[in-house]
Amino acid sequence: MDDFHREFILDHYKRPRNFGTLEDPDITNEEDNPFCGDRIRIDLKLGEGRVVDVRFDGRGCAISTAAASILTDKVKGAPLERVRAFSKEEMLEALGIPLSPIRLKCGLLALKVLKAGLYGIKGWPGEEE
Ligand code: FES
Repeated sequence: MDDFHREFILDHYKRPRNFGTLEDPDITNEEDNPFCGDRIRIDLKLGEGRVVDVRFDGRGCAISTAAASILTDKVKGAPLERVRAFSKEEMLEALGIPLSPIRLKCGLLALKVLKAGLYGIKGWPGEEE
């Protein structure tokens, strides 16, 4: 991992964006990474086909927390079609670091929680490929 990406991940880990819960969310979903037991919860407020507001909560490693922070930043205000189309590859690209197969679960946990909450899509995104 180069210095820029190490700093980028650490910054999102230490100062996570959109951290916390929403008062009256339209959707809330919480799931864990079965490999380590870390959990992430995502709350969403929806309106006019968009994500009006989003928060995440829970406990995770630097990668999973940074991924949740980055993902919530990206989907805040976004149209739901865009959120639905947000792929595993885009998530990994946004993280910008190569991940081992085990760390892949960390990097994709937030996306799994988001998609399962919004669309009932179960399983790790893209795992069936
Ligand atoms: Fe648990 Fe990364 S080690 S989510």
